[in-house]
Amino acid sequence: LNTTVAPLFFADQFLQISTSLPSHFISGLGEHLTPLVLDTAWTRVTLWNRDMAPVPQVNLYGSHPFYLVMEDGGLAHGVFLLNSNAMDVLLQPSPALTWRTTGGILDFYVFLGPDPKSVVRQYLDIVGFPFMPPYWGLGFHLCRWGYSSTDITRQVVANMTAARFPLDVQWNDLDYMDAKRDFTFNKKGFKDYPEMVQDFHRRGLRYIMIVDPGISSSGPPGTYKPFDEGLKRGVFIRNATGQPLIGKVWPGPTAFPDFTNPETHEWWHDMVKDFHDQVPFDGMWIDMNEPSNFVEGSQDGCPNNSLEQPPYVPGVFGGRLQAGTICASSQQYLSSHYNLHSLYGLTEAIASHDALLRVRGKRPFVISRSTFAGHGRYAGHWTGDVSSDWEQLYYSIP
Ligand SMILES: *[C@@H]1O[C@H](CO)[C@@H](O)[C@H](O)[C@H]1NC(C)=O
Ligand SMILES: *[C@@H]1O[C@H](CO)[C@@H](O)[C@H](O)[C@H]1NC(C)=O
Ligand SMILES: *[C@@H]1O[C@H](CO)[C@@H](O)[C@H](O)[C@H]1NC(C)=O
Ligand SMILES: *[C@@H]1O[C@H](CO)[C@@H](O)[C@H](O)[C@H]1NC(C)=O
Repeated sequence: LNTTVAPLFFADQFLQISTSLPSHFISGLGEHLTPLVLDTAWTRVTLWNRDMAPVPQVNLYGSHPFYLVMEDGGLAHGVFLLNSNAMDVLLQPSPALTWRTTGGILDFYVFLGPDPKSVVRQYLDIVGFPFMPPYWGLGFHLCRWGYSSTDITRQVVANMTAARFPLDVQWNDLDYMDAKRDFTFNKKGFKDYPEMVQDFHRRGLRYIMIVDPGISSSGPPGTYKPFDEGLKRGVFIRNATGQPLIGKVWPGPTAFPDFTNPETHEWWHDMVKDFHDQVPFDGMWIDMNEPSNFVEGSQDGCPNNSLEQPPYVPGVFGGRLQAGTICASSQQYLSSHYNLHSLYGLTEAIASHDALLRVRGKRPFVISRSTFAGHGRYAGHWTGDVSSDWEQLYYSIP
């Protein structure tokens, strides 16, 4: 490390520090579609969690402000900047690296290795070691959108069995829900949903379904418990006038649970338990938790203030922090969404992990689309909306 190569900036909403690098062989700074070794020829890597089908050069679902760089003779060191604000990391050919973040503090961890494996181990000492999955979690899983009824889902399992294809865990996407709302199931195609899951259990299979964070807010009062209870218990992220911020996701208008509030964890547990009492699922697939929003900011837009329009906007896809998500200036229990945005998936994963542990009393299995450094302690990850082609399979390795 040599941080004298450029001046330090330490201003409100703009913090910048640079260092020379011992070589061009640098890895990390996920989540992006890149080769294992990053390109140092003037590249910009942006961190700000975003619902985005993986393509090169854009911020994707997760933020991991950690890199590992090779030194001479096979040695290595690593650096972790524990900072959740929107940031750019600039890679330069000298070689050098610049951190440029829009808030927080410069909370650095430096891992001396001296070899690459020790760097990773030292990083995990700080952020937490990966969770121990249940044994069945390591088995063969089958999942897709479009298994539109229990009949079709049962057929899939029957056909797999008939083809003597190994299968340990069957999944469903949104199809099971009533009007795409969490913790419901539709009484048309999924009338015998609980029985289907019980049948799978009798055959030695496990079962997982998708859950989104957005809670439908448009039903008449008294018709949808997750929203009614959430409102009463004050679990939703608030807008400038202190009311639940309303965006739009699969079910239409939705409020967004604030998983930095301990009461939200209790409420989430209660909703998970109510649903598990009906449908004895084994794990949770948590999606759309960047959080993704189909309208920019909220149904009512966002205020014009220094959090929505910071003096420096990192290279986020869409050009604005609120693009594809909720207003940066919305308020959460711990701080503004501006500071907490990229922690949304992690905090939901912690709530889901803890809820499953309490409800099932066994090792939880959760995978999440959105992540932040340390996520692996609570849950796994899948690669989101990748396409089923060889190139994207190849890039799933780095
Ligand atoms: C750090 O970088 C500065 C500026 O390039 C250089 O003058 C100095 O010699 C470097 N220090 C070390 C220890 O390499
Ligand atoms: C299961 O196999 C049958 C017979 O090949 C086929 O008609 C049916 O479409 C398959 N079901 C699914 C859901 O793939
Ligand atoms: C806050 O959200 C409520 C809906 O919960 C909406 O009626 C109100 O206009 C919003 N306030 C602002 C400033 O957008
Ligand atoms: C937001 O406010 C600033 C300062 O008052 C102004 O310069 C800017 O044009 C406004 N932006 C929008 C999008 O209204």
